[in-house]
Amino acid sequence: MKPELAPQVAGSLTDSRRKFLEKTGLSMTLSLFGMSFFTACSSTDDADPTTPPVGGGGGNGISVSGNTTTIDLNIQQGLQTAGNWLLITNTRTLVANVNGSFVALTSVCTHSGCFDSWTFGNNRFTCRCHGSVFDPSGQVLQGPANAPLQQFTTQVSGTSLIITR
Ligand code: FES
Repeated sequence: MKPELAPQVAGSLTDSRRKFLEKTGLSMTLSLFGMSFFTACSSTDDADPTTPPVGGGGGNGISVSGNTTTIDLNIQQGLQTAGNWLLITNTRTLVANVNGSFVALTSVCTHSGCFDSWTFGNNRFTCRCHGSVFDPSGQVLQGPANAPLQQFTTQVSGTSLIITR
């Protein structure tokens, strides 16, 4: 059975750094104001499904103000490719490029609240905690979850993707 698509580094990491991170399973979760901040990831067909999300802060092109998250697509270039995605842990947000359109959902699983363990592939989000699967609009495709993920609005303005919760 082919493994579920796994998160990988979106944007600007070099191949060698990406391979290093894939092999070592390192994740980089930044702290800002004492809390976990951003985790960014994207998908490819051949990545190790156990690779944890990798992200950055400050220079990663993701900023939060109130209920609005803005992603600089020039920095998070990977998100411009269909099939790639991000998990922004501090705002509990999943973002994906689905066939050229952006979708954003809560990353708080409706089953039992896991928010930081997801994969995305074949336009489906899978919660790794117990295997619930959701479509890009948040509808449940497979339990144990039985309620949809909340969907957020997305808007592209210039080179920014704006997500409003
Ligand atoms: Fe997501 Fe259980 S918390 S499937």
